[in-house]
Amino acid sequence: MKRGETRLAQRLKAKIGHEGPMTFRDFMAAALYDTDEGFYAKGSLIGNSEGAYLTNAQYPAFGFALARAALHAEALVGEPLRIVEFGGGTGMLAAAMQRWLQAPREYIIVEPSSGLRAIQRARGLSTVSSPWELKPAPTVVFANEVLDSLPVHRLMGMNDAQVCEVYVGLNDRQEFTDWPDRPSTSLLLDRLKEEGIVLGRGQLAEVCLDIEPFLAGVKHVMSKGYAIFIDYGDEAKNLYSPTRRNGTLCAYWNQQKHYEWYLRVGDQDLTADVDYTALRTLACRAGLLPAGQIRQGQWLQNLGIHDYIDGSVSGISDVHERNLEIIQLTHPAKLGSAFDVLIFKTPELPDGPGLHL
Ligand SMILES: C[S@@+](CC[C@H](N)C(=O)[O-])C[C@H]1O[C@@H](n2cnc3c(N)ncnc32)[C@H](O)[C@@H]1O
Repeated sequence: MKRGETRLAQRLKAKIGHEGPMTFRDFMAAALYDTDEGFYAKGSLIGNSEGAYLTNAQYPAFGFALARAALHAEALVGEPLRIVEFGGGTGMLAAAMQRWLQAPREYIIVEPSSGLRAIQRARGLSTVSSPWELKPAPTVVFANEVLDSLPVHRLMGMNDAQVCEVYVGLNDRQEFTDWPDRPSTSLLLDRLKEEGIVLGRGQLAEVCLDIEPFLAGVKHVMSKGYAIFIDYGDEAKNLYSPTRRNGTLCAYWNQQKHYEWYLRVGDQDLTADVDYTALRTLACRAGLLPAGQIRQGQWLQNLGIHDYIDGSVSGISDVHERNLEIIQLTHPAKLGSAFDVLIFKTPELPDGPGLHL
């Protein structure tokens, strides 16, 4: 075993040794979601200093505003809605939101990682491993920073507008290395073609195919209602523009962003920006309609996040701290413009909550 190498890295190397290079998608899926040793399966790393990332969900003010969004969604639909949160992490958002909903609502987390489900259950939250365990019902779906953590394939432009896929192989020293070869599926090329993207020679890019089954699950739980995704990303033409030659894949360790994704396999977070163009196209294909897009800062202000300062729930932080939370979540130089809110609806509903003051 190499110094500092995780057991998961060893297992993946053995697999590559036997079966040949694996797609980056499969490598990332294992690094994040391997049942025993994936970053999210272990659960315990989120919110600690090691391997952790900072998220909206850690600010109770975010839960306050999202509770408002849920209530506003109910007013738009005209009936009570179940809340289904996809990818609940350690359950911080669910716990904060439930505190601010005027009457108790059915609140279910869809969480594929067993370690996180255990943490969520310990907090008294309802959690299932797959959306297909739920019956369709009038629902508002939330997913905060989930799409960016779905595993991605890596592509690279070659001569004459050809494209290869960058697999994960092993070099002579038995280290993980980029391994270009023919694309593992024509769906990758179909996506680029559909979006009118031609990668320049040597240009790297990520394509997420897992978004499609994810959206099918989201649509499945909603007999009617809204799906609200909060994430970072861009339209395809910007994401894959020649000025972004290295793609957007990155790793997070100890709250530091870096590009050594073959290190600390299973102990660090991996993420790639969301392709909003694909998200919209695939959501429509799944039977959902676009119902608004807005920067997080503006959305939270429209929802009345400033009322959080006067919140009357006991035991929450003092006014100064509450103010700092709001600044952190809404200021354009902080998280306010780092995240976008993309809202989808079932047919025949008005546009989504929080789009206007
Ligand atoms: C970056 S974390 C965000 C956690 C939480 N929403 C937050 O903001 O702190 C990504 C979450 O999405 C979950 N996840 C990954 N794939 C998923 C899927 N297909 N369906 C639902 N959740 C998923 C992960 O297990 C994890 O809980």
